[in-house]
Amino acid sequence: MAKLRSWQLRGQLHLLTGFITGFVCAFMLLLFIYDVHNGISCWPTSSSSSGSSDYTSSRAMNRFSADLSPAIRVLCMVLTCPDYVERYAQHVYATWGQRCNKLIFVSSENYEPLGVVQVVDSDGGNYEDLWNKTREGFRYVWLEYGAQYDWFLKADDDTYVIMENLRHMLSAYDPDMPIYFGYQMRRYNVSYMSGGASYVLSREALRRFMSEAYSSAKICPAAKKTGIEDFYMGICLQNVGVHLIDSKRALPAEQKPKFFPLDVAKYLFNSNVSIPDWLREMSVSQIATGNDCCSNYSIAFHYTKPERMYLYEFLLYNLRVFGRSYEEQLPAQLTAEELFELFPIENNLDIRDLSQMHEKPENF
Ligand SMILES: *[C@@H]1O[C@H](CO)[C@@H](O)[C@H](O)[C@H]1NC(C)=O
Ligand SMILES: *[C@@H]1O[C@H](CO)[C@@H](O)[C@H](O)[C@H]1NC(C)=O
Ligand SMILES: *[C@@H]1O[C@H](CO)[C@@H](O)[C@H](O)[C@H]1NC(C)=O
Ligand SMILES: *[C@@H]1O[C@H](CO)[C@@H](O)[C@H](O)[C@H]1NC(C)=O
Repeated sequence: MAKLRSWQLRGQLHLLTGFITGFVCAFMLLLFIYDVHNGISCWPTSSSSSGSSDYTSSRAMNRFSADLSPAIRVLCMVLTCPDYVERYAQHVYATWGQRCNKLIFVSSENYEPLGVVQVVDSDGGNYEDLWNKTREGFRYVWLEYGAQYDWFLKADDDTYVIMENLRHMLSAYDPDMPIYFGYQMRRYNVSYMSGGASYVLSREALRRFMSEAYSSAKICPAAKKTGIEDFYMGICLQNVGVHLIDSKRALPAEQKPKFFPLDVAKYLFNSNVSIPDWLREMSVSQIATGNDCCSNYSIAFHYTKPERMYLYEFLLYNLRVFGRSYEEQLPAQLTAEELFELFPIENNLDIRDLSQMHEKPENF
């Protein structure tokens, strides 16, 4: 305003120049906004609301800079049980669960206020029934919501997930590719993603799981007691051509883990004794502790007590450090060729027919 006023004092010619400059600037700004808006349409899919072209400019800018949730639609399936609804599930509901595009708790008993859905018989919801609950949970989610979401996260009720960072990683991938992400482990010579650290299936991975693996005991363990949920899932998915993407390698800019099967404090403290031997033996990569342990875009932490969930909420979403700011970029999208080269299907001869598997756990 002050500038405009001084121009007026200098006469009409200057005023005219001012108008022209203003017009040109406004026009360029419009072009820029238009461009940004167009850019959004190359995201994998868009929700019903993102198809329209009557954005206000500020909304379009905001969407570009930060909010990926309309374009990268994640359904969160959180496993719980009747005894843990109050102790754990309600705190997931009150914290990170709100940032999922859809939050579903699967259990052996309904509880409507939190959206807890019974997917197994009421006497079949114990820890030993975890495999059945996971299978049935995915079945329910696929039948009810398969068409409406791009990605399907499986977490436990003591996992904490930073949904913004999950979408940031997923933005480099296409949900119509058969892929799944998490913390990669290996047992009996078979790779899989740790269950407690949570894992994410693309829509195509879930489609294949349901249409090809779910009902074939030859390639995917049938419902049974004391199954090993995450290990079984790894077998079933690989047998239907789903590629495992260790989140450590999912973003080329930073080769560090993003899903953690232990409390993240155990990694940050620079000590070998904080990481148990079983985890070192089962992990496919070396485990680092201290400053190098964890990606700046970390996604999921297991063994998070309810109190800790609220601490994370405060530290991540409220607390500010005065004077800090940083620039951010989205990762480049991988082509199918790059993806299959970086993350080839592993040699799976041994699990093609589970009745012939050489080395296997009991109860298989
Ligand atoms: C798995 O769950 C389904 C649905 O509740 C049930 O019909 C089936 O008997 C269960 N199987 C086992 C082995 O628990
Ligand atoms: C932890 O153990 C590994 C070998 O197992 C060793 O290379 C590393 O230096 C150890 N780190 C610390 C902090 O003691
Ligand atoms: C992670 O954050 C720290 C602190 O801002 C920074 O020094 C480091 O360079 C970041 N790492 C990467 C790979 O961006
Ligand atoms: C383990 O798998 C690799 C390929 O992934 C294979 O070369 C090797 O022979 C397997 N080892 C055993 C003991 O089955």
